[in-house]
Amino acid sequence: MKLADRVKNISPSPTLAIDARAKKMIAAGEKVINFGAGEPDFDTPEHIKEAAMAAIHKGMTKYTPVGGTMELKKAIIQKLKADNGLEYTPEQIVVSVGAKHSLYNAMMVLLQPGDEVILPAPYWVTYLEQIKLAGAVPVIVQTRQENGFKLTAEELLSVVSPRTKMVIINSPGNPTGAVYAKEELVELGKVIEDRGLVVISDEIYEKLIYDGCEHVSIASLSPALKEQTVVINGMSKAYAMTGWRIGYAAAPTEVARAMIDLQSHSTSNPTSIAQAASVAALTGTQEPLMEMVAEFRRRRDYMLQRLNAIPGISCNTPSGAFYVFPSMARYIGRQYKGRQINGASDLASLLLDEVKVAVVPGVAFGDDRCFRLSYATSMENIVEGLNRIEQFFLQID
Ligand SMILES: Cc1ncc(COP(=O)(O)O)c(C=O)c1O
Repeated sequence: MKLADRVKNISPSPTLAIDARAKKMIAAGEKVINFGAGEPDFDTPEHIKEAAMAAIHKGMTKYTPVGGTMELKKAIIQKLKADNGLEYTPEQIVVSVGAKHSLYNAMMVLLQPGDEVILPAPYWVTYLEQIKLAGAVPVIVQTRQENGFKLTAEELLSVVSPRTKMVIINSPGNPTGAVYAKEELVELGKVIEDRGLVVISDEIYEKLIYDGCEHVSIASLSPALKEQTVVINGMSKAYAMTGWRIGYAAAPTEVARAMIDLQSHSTSNPTSIAQAASVAALTGTQEPLMEMVAEFRRRRDYMLQRLNAIPGISCNTPSGAFYVFPSMARYIGRQYKGRQINGASDLASLLLDEVKVAVVPGVAFGDDRCFRLSYATSMENIVEGLNRIEQFFLQID
């Protein structure tokens, strides 16, 4: 069978090779420490599971409105108002099968073939692939470690062209954990307003934030910016609900309507039971979330201290999400037991082969001088993994 042109450009995930090898080694009984996780290692809180079970028993097992139940939309509206100072109506909310699906819907209804989309690197690789799937052109802007891996207004302005349609902002970000301060968003917002750009603001890591940092949604900065922004969020990260697959978008009415129409011909509504569980997540106790954040912070601090103690490794302090993204640039061109290290991809291969530690090379995010470690794994694993990493680096010539 001949495949459609549309899929010919999709790149297989660059993380997959390492991941497949790590899993094979684990299956063979080897003690691999896996820093690759993209999901909280905590269980979904009990009250959320109970809400799902109650929904089953109440017979909430049928189709719901395509864009989500009114109950969930109301809970989302309340959340957006209380946390982000944003006011939306139910027809401006679209609940989908995970935030990834929300992003996909948004790109599909907004991007025309040939439109340019500004994507700050390091980026989460799904943005790149979805932009390409929509027939649009990614314009990648390399951000700088010295600058906390955040896009500046000058950098944004330097790549805006008459074909620019959209800019992606992901704060707190994957893989860097960078959180944009309000003033930084204000500066970006001026360019975005002035040039009439569309913003996709992916706020999925909003709740995983440390050091008293405040999450600000760019949509909240002015009525114009709200009209130009699609806010993306979801249950996966804050409520340890990755498997439940509930994400949502808040968008101007016309855009939300188009997203619902598109969704009506693909997945229809997201699972009714998971929607009921999400109402409990948003409206119930936030205590388990607080505990998770406190534990993530403890792990992050330990990891940072250990990584930055390794000569030649430098790691920014991420203010959000559950990843650290250290630079190994000073090891490029050097050798480990006669094997050349040309970038983080070689480093990741060597770490897995030699000390059985799985990390994600930065090439997966558009920057192969860095590698990503997730701290969504136990403290015991983190201690052991960092012992091994330290040993490894000490043997590089
Ligand atoms: C930046 C970012 N956005 C969105 C998602 C998608 O989350 P989900 O589809 O599970 O809601 C992820 C998951 O890894 C992510 O890292």
